[in-house]
Amino acid sequence: MATSAAKSAAARVRELRKQIEHHNYRYHVLDDPEVSDAEYDRLLRELKALEEQYPDLVTVDSPTQRVGATPVSELQEVVHTRPMLSLDNAFADEDVVAFDRRVRERLEDVEQIEYSAEPKLDGLAISFRYESGRLVQAATRGDGLRGEDVTHNVRTIKAVPTVLRGSPPKLLEVRGEVFMLIAGFKAMNQRALERGERTFVNPRNAAAGSIRQLDPRLAADRPFDVFFYGVGETDGWKLPARHSEALQQLREWGLKVSPLLKIVQGAEGCLQYYREIGAKRASLPYEIDGVVYKVNRFVQQRDLGFVARAPRWAIAHKFPAHEENTVVKGVEFQVGRTGALTPVARLEPVFVGGVTVSNATLHNMDEVRRKDVRIGDTVVIRRAGDVIPEVVKVIVERRPKDAQEVELPSKCPVCGSAVEREEGEAVARCTGGLVCAAQRKEAIRHFAGRRALDIDGLGTKIIDQLVESDPPLVRSPADLYVLTAEQLAALDRMGEKSAENLVEAIEASKKHATLPRFLYALGIRDVGEATAAALGNHFGSLKELQGATEEQIQEVPDVGPVVAAHVYKFFQEKHNRDVIAALTRHVQLQSQARKAATGEGPLAGKTFVLTGSLDSMSRDEAGDRIAALGGKVAGSVSKKTSYVVAGAEAGSKLAKAQELGVEVLDEKKFLKLLESG
Ligand code: IVH
Repeated sequence: MATSAAKSAAARVRELRKQIEHHNYRYHVLDDPEVSDAEYDRLLRELKALEEQYPDLVTVDSPTQRVGATPVSELQEVVHTRPMLSLDNAFADEDVVAFDRRVRERLEDVEQIEYSAEPKLDGLAISFRYESGRLVQAATRGDGLRGEDVTHNVRTIKAVPTVLRGSPPKLLEVRGEVFMLIAGFKAMNQRALERGERTFVNPRNAAAGSIRQLDPRLAADRPFDVFFYGVGETDGWKLPARHSEALQQLREWGLKVSPLLKIVQGAEGCLQYYREIGAKRASLPYEIDGVVYKVNRFVQQRDLGFVARAPRWAIAHKFPAHEENTVVKGVEFQVGRTGALTPVARLEPVFVGGVTVSNATLHNMDEVRRKDVRIGDTVVIRRAGDVIPEVVKVIVERRPKDAQEVELPSKCPVCGSAVEREEGEAVARCTGGLVCAAQRKEAIRHFAGRRALDIDGLGTKIIDQLVESDPPLVRSPADLYVLTAEQLAALDRMGEKSAENLVEAIEASKKHATLPRFLYALGIRDVGEATAAALGNHFGSLKELQGATEEQIQEVPDVGPVVAAHVYKFFQEKHNRDVIAALTRHVQLQSQARKAATGEGPLAGKTFVLTGSLDSMSRDEAGDRIAALGGKVAGSVSKKTSYVVAGAEAGSKLAKAQELGVEVLDEKKFLKLLESG
């Protein structure tokens, strides 16, 4: 017997669910939220509290049930009432032209075909069944005829509505791609690494693995998203004339459709779209492996029909793959600035991610052992965006009998000094320090880098010659300041004009050195820009820092005992002191007041994140000015961020700030803040 309190609770529960679903739609489908995350969370909490008080009111499609219900014991088979097809692939422009020609020939009298062009998402295909607007089943594609029931996991995905908006038909089966956001995938792998759990090779494998888990609680905290791209079985819906119109209707029912969908005309239009999306590919927050062109008119689709498992009316135009197989011909060790030895696989050249790759990093010996890479192995190489190609895994089945294990050399391959590996460290190092030409070159490259002393035009090839000349023209960064234009002009591929320009650039670097930049430029182990700024702000001068004890260095905010020990040790070493003494004869450090540490700076305790580009200054300058007022600059947005400074073309950091409710400053407001400081 329902009391009146229970009745009003039921009404409130209905109201809350309606509101939450509305906000889900604004957020996921329209990408235009009306309320803050905090407000949304309040609604969800209120609903949760009511459902706890009145358990009878709980339904499977309540938004509170997204956290993952009880595990299933095995995945049930689902027979697709309409087969889930796959697509033929096109790799070259000619393949697309030929496809369009075939389509036109079959349709006879049609001169130009209208296509719906969409990104091809790299996730897994799912069929979603809605009855009277409620999600009743979600299934994987399987072999196209039979898939597996994964409803328990799909219900945890917030971008998949459990209840549709408006007046959806009695039966609506829609198809779409469930995928993982790259940022979330990386964070998830990072957490797994920290806990010593297994990591996933790429977002697609992570998505496929998670969706087929038995326990939905595992899927619930994974960063899934979805785009719906097609219609399966329906009842009670008179389909519109075009695929794009059908998707528009799906969108109105609350199903998320790619915002990059576009109607294009003929093969020309398709190829132009391919280039447009190709240019955007690297900046998308999810992975796509191509684009799909679909004949837009349903009558034409019907007339074209199918061959085997793929429709004649659609084709996938693939981008160059991110991953390829190749053979490891050898492993060499590269020596970095701090002496770290990085194993690098020499590969049978392979075309991947749009370029030919013949080397891939293996990071360190622990990685070599963990992946068990041996010389002669066939491996999967991955190159995504602009990142360094890496060896993802070994295809063990293809290992030849004579495959050789990789050994860490006992002597530095560059200078012959002993190689050491500290207890508990993954990294092995050459002990040669600046005796080692490789370390010297890297030290100079780092010193001249854009974020350090910013010497324009001092590239790798020139540094190599300066260090390798006999006798060496440059042994330490200080030697740069006595180079003459004549000496430089004598180098390979150096004209008189560029020699003069370089001398000027070196000269210019004398003036814009702030203490933090200078400290960063020295290349002290573990001292990145943020630590250099903190050290500079705390000690105010090089002299004070050089005279500090290890304990005093540890007092600097965010400097722990390990970093403090490296900094202290660095300044104790005679050759470092000599280099610094020589450098300071040339470089005038701009004076720096003690600020952040004493809490005196007006921006003390404030953390900034910079995104996009500012008109009035470079990002580095903005960072310097924040640091000069005692503030800190961080690389990523979190709840602890005080301000996000958003310039033109601000990216995902701005979105993140809005998501977390962090205050965003445009350039004008930022300048005002600096001035008032
Ligand atoms: S349409 C009959 N559209 O690609 C048409 N598929 O190789 C079938 N995919 O299994 C699919 N994005 O997992 C279509 N915008 C898109 C897609 C897409 C990704 C995947 C889907 C399918 C595979 C076909």
